[in-house]
Amino acid sequence: MTSKNKLRRKALTGAALAAALTASGTASAQSKATSGMPLSDEVVRARADALIAQMTPEEKAGQITQYFDFTDSPEEAKRVTDEMAASRAGSLLFVHDPAELDRLQHIAVEKTRLKIPLLFGYDVIHGLRTIMPVPIAVAASWDPGVAQQAQTVAAREARAVGIHWAFAPNLDIARDPRWGRLIEGAGEDPYLGSAMAAAQVRGFQGSYIGSPGHVISGPKHFAGYGASIGGRDYDEVNLSDSELWNVYLKPFKAAVDAGAGNIMSAYMGVNGVPATGNRWLLTDVLRKTWGFRGFVVTDAGAAHDLLTHGFAASNEDAGVRALQAGVDMEMAPPFGISAFKTLPQSLAAGKITTAQLDDAVRRVLEAKIRMGLFEKPYVDLQAAKRVLADPAHREVARMAAERSAVLLRNEGGALPLSRRALKSIVVIGPLADSARDTVGPWVFDQDDKETVTVLAGIKAEVGSGVKVAYSPGVTLPARVNKSIFQSDEQFAAGKARNVDDTPEIQRAVALAKDADVAVLVLGEGQIMVGENASRSSLDLPGRQQELLDAVIATGKPVVVLLMSARPLDIKGSKPAALMDIWYPGTQGGTAVANLLFGKVSPGGKLPYNWPRNIGQVPLPYAHLTTHQPKTVEERYWNESNTPLYPFGYGLSYSTFAFSNLKVDKAKVARGVAVPVSVDVRNTGSRKADEVAQLYIHQRYGTAARPVRELKGFERLTLEPGETRTVRFTLSPDDLSYWAASTRSFVQDATTFDVYAGNSSTAALGGSFEVAD
Ligand code: BGC
Repeated sequence: MTSKNKLRRKALTGAALAAALTASGTASAQSKATSGMPLSDEVVRARADALIAQMTPEEKAGQITQYFDFTDSPEEAKRVTDEMAASRAGSLLFVHDPAELDRLQHIAVEKTRLKIPLLFGYDVIHGLRTIMPVPIAVAASWDPGVAQQAQTVAAREARAVGIHWAFAPNLDIARDPRWGRLIEGAGEDPYLGSAMAAAQVRGFQGSYIGSPGHVISGPKHFAGYGASIGGRDYDEVNLSDSELWNVYLKPFKAAVDAGAGNIMSAYMGVNGVPATGNRWLLTDVLRKTWGFRGFVVTDAGAAHDLLTHGFAASNEDAGVRALQAGVDMEMAPPFGISAFKTLPQSLAAGKITTAQLDDAVRRVLEAKIRMGLFEKPYVDLQAAKRVLADPAHREVARMAAERSAVLLRNEGGALPLSRRALKSIVVIGPLADSARDTVGPWVFDQDDKETVTVLAGIKAEVGSGVKVAYSPGVTLPARVNKSIFQSDEQFAAGKARNVDDTPEIQRAVALAKDADVAVLVLGEGQIMVGENASRSSLDLPGRQQELLDAVIATGKPVVVLLMSARPLDIKGSKPAALMDIWYPGTQGGTAVANLLFGKVSPGGKLPYNWPRNIGQVPLPYAHLTTHQPKTVEERYWNESNTPLYPFGYGLSYSTFAFSNLKVDKAKVARGVAVPVSVDVRNTGSRKADEVAQLYIHQRYGTAARPVRELKGFERLTLEPGETRTVRFTLSPDDLSYWAASTRSFVQDATTFDVYAGNSSTAALGGSFEVAD
């Protein structure tokens, strides 16, 4: 650094800085930042630049480094605190205790040279204290309003405890259920995924970055992570540009359009180039094509991974290549091998420019300024307590769980159960009374005591008039490898557990024989799904299948509730009713009881095709027509190629009829929107929800297009006998796609088929033409 720069730094501290900030309009900006109005871009930039002008290269590198706070290791915690106090950390992740967040912020604001507050990030994926159903469940509600409300609550709790940024939503399209992280996303479809993406960003951020009670949203993992080969987490991804543009990038575009303030780069390589060093993704697509203006963070340790991948030559090279690809902040570098900490050396060696380093620093500082951290850095501990305990948050969790459940089978109207007609119920299964599993993975601050399990929910619903017996039936097996979310002790304890399930299976069967109905809660433990939790099977883990078949063999009515995120294979077993309740969250048991006893009717729909068995995956509904289309269902000689349950499918306690599909114009010019309407009638005898879905198929054009693509949906509540006309508009964007031959988005002059109904197999059809 030149002495001139040093002088300038000195000159701008203290009173001079205050004057400079005021001169750039900052005094009024300060009041705006805490009073519910967005700051202007000019003001934000001027304030960031005033700080940058005073920073050393080391402070800049620190500002764009985010550390884990290892609160369970005093040694590591001290190292982090020392780094922070020396201005060598701009952000921390993984602290959620409000007092600790406040303590750390006091150090940053009071002890560091430039008094720059820390930005606290956290995995607020499906709630902080109030745990919402997992994201794939919320997607199954087919109600973006639910997604927005759930993340509004999550944001409110996070902001109250002092967290400023949620590493969410996960926007990875997932078409392979072996991949454990399908639980975090919205399933297989880009249209549903985009609607859920935008809604979640709005929920987290409010109407602008810095809205009171809101946090920055960081959609992840950019991009293509869900397509890892074999469904194995972290493994490579090979996607054509056409799949990237038409499927995998779509939800990210929607999130950027909704104003997301951050994007997280993915771990793996896309077509051979690691996402975190991928300039095409992070700069050409994200910034230049989409106009993203927030900051980009790596996934944890992913900058250093450029070396691991055999992409960067050294740790220094990894830092340079990540920065130059478009990364602004390095998340959680392992100590001693931070790639971004080497940036000052690379600057001195001329491998990066000051402007490149400053651009990253500016984006991070701008986020802090917009969030009002300079004016209000600390945590109001009393207010935090009040917000975390807010009963309204639990109501949102209950409603979200009720709206997420998907009824897959209901023979002879087995559900809803009648409290009056029943004398006894047996609740069976290893997940029936497990609070920890009920809330699912990706939660760290939940209150297990407050969580309502399915057993507790049923007991509370039926009261003393109905006898409720319970048997876990079987134990869940331990994982063969340790999850990154398990301690060594937890893993060892699981491994050491050696239970003979036979006596408990027999007890469960005996209890079922004595009961009027058996409710089985089966599925995967939360540790079996999520990050680092891919699986080579879709079977029920352990001896659950045997338990299920033994209970069905009693001849008693059996209701199976699947607690899972994967489409599990129950081997053709035929319980009277089958409902996917996902991991339903803090209020899961109450919601499930309300569904079982008909206080509400299930209205969720599958966000993915449910395969018959694992050999079929991936099995997206939006596939292309291929050679010998008549035998498309017989691509395997040993069984049908169709899904067991199609994308968009889900039953209700009522019935619905779709009619009167109207395509407003038989022929339109390119660039003109096409209104479509359809009538939905509740033909049953109870008030219930239905999801009207609109699909298109392009018959011919510049490229071949999928047999069906979702292009509109609306969840409705209809009284018995009520008919509603649902109106959709197919915009020119909906009719366009990225074509490999032109390497651009095109809208063809062609014929479109249109289908409307309550799943991707909807029969009611129409068509229209687009002319030149
Ligand atoms: C995950 C991210 C997460 C980060 C911080 C990573 O391993 O891939 O989704 O946000 O850890 O916890």
